Amino acid sequence: MSVDVISSQGEPILQLKEIRKSFDRHGARLERSMVLKDVECFIHRAEVVGLIGGSGTGKSTLARLIMGLERQDCGSILFEGRDLEQVTARERQAMRRFMQMVFQDPYDSLAQGLTVEEIVAEPLIIHRIHRYDRKKRRELVEDALAEVALAPSSLFINRYPHELSGGQRQRVALARALILRPRLIIADEPTSMLDVSLRLELIDLMKRLRERHGIAYLYITHDLALAHRFCDRLLVLSEGRIVEQGLANEVIERPRHPYTRALMQAAMRFMPAIQSSNPVELTAK
Ligand SMILES: Nc1ncnc2c1ncn2[C@@H]1O[C@H](COP(=O)(O)OP(=O)(O)O)[C@@H](O)[C@H]1O
Ligand SMILES: [Mg+2]
Repeated sequence: MSVDVISSQGEPILQLKEIRKSFDRHGARLERSMVLKDVECFIHRAEVVGLIGGSGTGKSTLARLIMGLERQDCGSILFEGRDLEQVTARERQAMRRFMQMVFQDPYDSLAQGLTVEEIVAEPLIIHRIHRYDRKKRRELVEDALAEVALAPSSLFINRYPHELSGGQRQRVALARALILRPRLIIADEPTSMLDVSLRLELIDLMKRLRERHGIAYLYITHDLALAHRFCDRLLVLSEGRIVEQGLANEVIERPRHPYTRALMQAAMRFMPAIQSSNPVELTAK
């Protein structure tokens, strides 16, 4: 989908306004460090927005705020135009169904003692969907596994995470996110623990799901080649501030902010391909 189409789609699916977040510094009770400083951004329906920045710049904190796992000091988060802090707990829970998260470490994020079926079905149980209908839940699990190309599902449904590869685990995590038919997926460095070829496979799968279901993504990464391949638009976070944003092509090919240029230079040292006018082709090799 072209960004022109996306940006003409009216109200963003997600909007962040003047978000600030601070934490207590270790050992200093009266001192707090400001981790996010007046962050403002938006994501349209079916849009893939990349959040890039070095480690410790506040990317995961931003993801956790959006998911309601932390609370901002001030500022607001609007999902489909509604402020998540201005609705009742019940409404918030209903809205959360449409935002799901995939975490970085597939070895850590899947409950080890549960089967794939139990892991993928868990969001249905949390949201009390088909609560008394195990057969229906199993059908939905099978559909979700098919969506992430873990087929035939009978091969995977009774397995445990330790019996799966890293790439398969990350697909299970994605199936778990998909089962509630989310409109937004926050993916926090979902590819960074995978081998290069598996990274591309996961990104291409996420792309297909966007095309098929119109899912929007906030894709957090420090891999600029993958960001270029997957994202429509990029936000560059440095020390808790968004220092640059724009179309992915433009930000990567003509970075304006010194911090973005430094990120690019660091990336090029490892991946000269990104310098090319067509990094997508080159990095796919
Ligand atoms: N729960 C917390 N308590 C205290 N400091 C935190 C907490 N979570 C994150 N931080 C700090 O906030 C900063 C940003 O962290 P994070 O959002 O994880 O960065 P990133 O994901 O970009 O690597 C870091 O300095 C980190 O130490
Ligand atoms: Mg992080």
